[in-house]
Amino acid sequence: MLRPPRRLPRPPLRRSAATGPGRRLLLSTPIFYANGPPHIGHLYSALLADALHRHRRLRAAGPGRLSTGTDEHGLKIQQAAAAAGTSPAELCQRVSGLFRRALAQAAVSFTDFTRTSEPRHQRAVRRFWGALRDAGALYKGAYEGWYCTAEECFVPESQLGERPDARGRRCRVALESGHQVHWTKEENYMFRLSAFRDPLWKWLRDNPRAVAPEPFYQRVLRWLEEDLPDLSVSRERSRLQWGIPVPGDSTQTIYVWVDALVNYLSAVGYPETHGEWWPAAHHVIGKDILKFHAVYWPALLMAAGLAPPERIFVHSHWTVRGQKMSKSLGNVVNPAACVGRYTVDGFRYFLLRQGVPERDCDYYDEKVVKVLNSELADALGGLLNRCTAPSINPSNTYPRFSESCFPKETEATGRASAEDYELVASVASLPLQVAGYFEGFQIYKALECIALCVRQTNGFFQRHRPWKLDQKDPGEQLWLDTVVHVTLECLRVYGTLLQPVIPHAADRLLSRLAVEPEERGLSSLTFLPRYDGKPCPFEGRQLGPDTGVLFPRLEQSGQHQAEAEEL
Ligand code: MSP
Repeated sequence: MLRPPRRLPRPPLRRSAATGPGRRLLLSTPIFYANGPPHIGHLYSALLADALHRHRRLRAAGPGRLSTGTDEHGLKIQQAAAAAGTSPAELCQRVSGLFRRALAQAAVSFTDFTRTSEPRHQRAVRRFWGALRDAGALYKGAYEGWYCTAEECFVPESQLGERPDARGRRCRVALESGHQVHWTKEENYMFRLSAFRDPLWKWLRDNPRAVAPEPFYQRVLRWLEEDLPDLSVSRERSRLQWGIPVPGDSTQTIYVWVDALVNYLSAVGYPETHGEWWPAAHHVIGKDILKFHAVYWPALLMAAGLAPPERIFVHSHWTVRGQKMSKSLGNVVNPAACVGRYTVDGFRYFLLRQGVPERDCDYYDEKVVKVLNSELADALGGLLNRCTAPSINPSNTYPRFSESCFPKETEATGRASAEDYELVASVASLPLQVAGYFEGFQIYKALECIALCVRQTNGFFQRHRPWKLDQKDPGEQLWLDTVVHVTLECLRVYGTLLQPVIPHAADRLLSRLAVEPEERGLSSLTFLPRYDGKPCPFEGRQLGPDTGVLFPRLEQSGQHQAEAEEL
C-alpha cells in the first residue's frame, strides 16, 4: 500500500475557553441506528445521559446541552430498507420519529436531536473530512479484509471464529459480537490511525478519568498495546450509495462511523461555533462502541486539530431473562410498553437503580415490580403518607422542630436516640455522597444510598410511634412535631436528590412539602438547619395539597410471584 510522507500527528489541541466554574458542557447519548425500533438498551444509554444532564442543571453548574439523534447512513440501513421494501430515506424518517418519540416519552430532556441525513450535519462531515485531508491524515489504498456489516467495521483475523450459518455451511464470525463477516476487497481512503498510538497513550495517561468506569479505561489501554492498523474510512460508492460522498471523489462514500461520530461536533455548530463547547463534552456510550469512541474518535479529532472529549462514560448491556436481546429470539423489550405499565418515573427508576455500568444486568418484569413496590410505593410513598396523615399532622403544616427534644449534644437530655443521631448524620452527608456518585457515573450507587436513607427514616418514624403520642400534652406535642419535622426534612432532601431520576414524582413530593421551584436546587440544599441552630424557612409553612399516592403499588403477574419473592 502506498503511503504519503508522514506529516502526522500534529500538536495544536486547542483547549476550549469554556473551562472553570459556570462552564459549558455538552452531554451526549450515542445516535441510534435507524434500522429498527427503540428497545430498553437504547433507552438506558439515553437515561444515563439524561440523569447526568438533569443533575448538572440542578447544580446550576453552567450552560449545558444534551445531544442525541439517529445514525442513518451505511450498509446496515441500506440493507434494512431493501429488506423492508422501502427506501432508506423513508425508513430513516419513520424510525427516527420513533426514537424521538420514545425519548420524549421517557422524559429524556434532550436539547439537540441530530439526524445524520440532515444537510447541516452532512456539511459538518464534509468539512471535518477536509480538515483530515488537509492535515495529511488520509491516503488512498487498496484494502481487503473481513467486513462485518452488522458492526460496520473490518474485523482483524485474530478476532474471528467460525460457526454454521442458517443452511449449515461454515461461516466466519466476529468473536465478540457473533455476527457474520464477509471478505471484502476494495479501494478505500485510509486514516493514519497508527500514527496516533503515542498521542492516544499520552492523552489517556494524562487523563485517567477520560474513560470510566476503570475496567473500560484499562481495556482501552490494552487495545493501545496491540497492533493499531490504519483505518479504512470510505467505501466504494458502487457498494454503498446511502451515505455522504467523499468531497472531491464521487466514487467513494464516507465511512458511516466517521459520519456518525461527527454528530457530536455538528450538534455544537462545527465548523463555526463548536469552539464555545468543544472539548467540554461527556459522551455516554455502551461497551460495544467503546473502541469507536475511545480510540478512533480521539485520534480523528487530534488529526483534525481538535482535543479529545473530556470524558467517556461506558455502560454494559441489558439481557432479558439471561439472554441477549434479539429480534430472532423475540425477546426485545419495548420501552413504550414498559412506560405504560410502570409509569415514566417507575421505569426510569428501575433502569437507573438496577443498571450497573461495570457489568451486564438482567431484565425481567417481576424484578421491576418488586423494586418499585418496595422502594417507591412502600418506602418513599408510605413515608410521605404516614407523616402527612391528618391524624398525625391535623394542621397540615411543616411543624416546629424543638432543640430540647433533639439537642445537638447527644449526651444532653432529649428524646432522640443514638439511631436518630445516626439518621441525621446519614442524611446530612447524603447530598455530597450523591453528587460524588453522579460525578463518577455511579448513579445506581446514588440511588442505593438514597433508598437506604429512606429505609432508615421509616425506621425512625416507626420507632417513635408518633400516633401514640398524646397531642393534648404540650411536651408530647413538641416531640411529635419534632419527629414529623425531621421526617419532612428527610423527605425534602430525597425529593430534591431524586429529581434527575424521577422528575414527575419528585415534583409531586416537593409540591406536597410546599417546596417552591426556586428552593429545589442542589447548590442551596440544606438539611435540618434547626438542628444546627439556624432558621428553617419551611417551619410553620402550610403544606401543599394532597394529590394522592406518590407511586401506586403494582400487581405482580401471578405465576412469577414466587420467583420474585426469592430474589
Ligand atoms: N449508531 C451507533 C452509535 C453511533 S454514536 C456516534 C450505535 N447505535 S445503536 O442503536 O446500535 O446503539 C445505541 C446505544 O444503545 C449504544 O450505546 C449501545 O451500547 C446501546 N445498546 C444497544 N443494545 C444494548 C443493550 N442490550 N443494553 C444496553 N445498551 C445497549 O451503536
